[in-house]
Amino acid sequence: MKYIIASNWKANFTLQEAIDWFEKVTSYIEKLHSSNIRVIAAVPYPYIHHLSTNFTTLDVFSQNISHVEGGAYTGEVTISMLKSINFKGSIVGHSERRHIFNETNEIINKKILLLQKNSLESILCVGETLDERKQGRTKQTIQQQISEALRGVTNFELITIAYEPVWAIGTGIPIDINDLIEMEKFIREFVLREYNWQAKILYGGSVDKGFIREIIQKTTLDGALIGSASWNPFNFIDIIGNL
Ligand code: PGA
Repeated sequence: MKYIIASNWKANFTLQEAIDWFEKVTSYIEKLHSSNIRVIAAVPYPYIHHLSTNFTTLDVFSQNISHVEGGAYTGEVTISMLKSINFKGSIVGHSERRHIFNETNEIINKKILLLQKNSLESILCVGETLDERKQGRTKQTIQQQISEALRGVTNFELITIAYEPVWAIGTGIPIDINDLIEMEKFIREFVLREYNWQAKILYGGSVDKGFIREIIQKTTLDGALIGSASWNPFNFIDIIGNL
């Protein structure tokens, strides 16, 4: 089985720090000679071109993409811009986009359809808030986020789901492993029933070197989406080394 380990840089790094991170991580991956790990780095827009041109061992993703194809939309970064600078795909619907920038499932759906139309990959993030979990609405929330984001999608090959409970992101406290096992089962069964799709599913939310081992040993997830613990290249290397 091939594990996907994705680093989400969020709004961090200068260009020099970005290059330094890539140098360290790629030289480690190259020495590993492992064909069962795929490493993705979701980096800020301005660095995509330089990184994807100079380093080919990792797959460079964006963290977001515009829902419009172009035109009078000041400040938007469109799919054709990104395609012209050589990237593999984008994270879509990250909880910070949903909650800070008010992204709706409808907007997220537009982004996924654009990526699909251009044969590019999407990592679709879904996750419940603490309130939703406390009210027993976790599964309902996830089901709604997935079905609204995937409306009109017919080819699922280029989509990966990242289950990221909002309350576990950036808190240092990941989900309880038994709850994760239950959520993985729920998502797998839902997408199989709904779309006849054997989805690749990642977990995200305070993954560190210890939790990645638990994921590998106790779940059948396809990997992880990692934020803060991946920003230091040596920490990230340690996480990969613990797979
Ligand atoms: P975290 O972030 O690992 O810092 O919790 C994960 C994410 O936001 O994707």
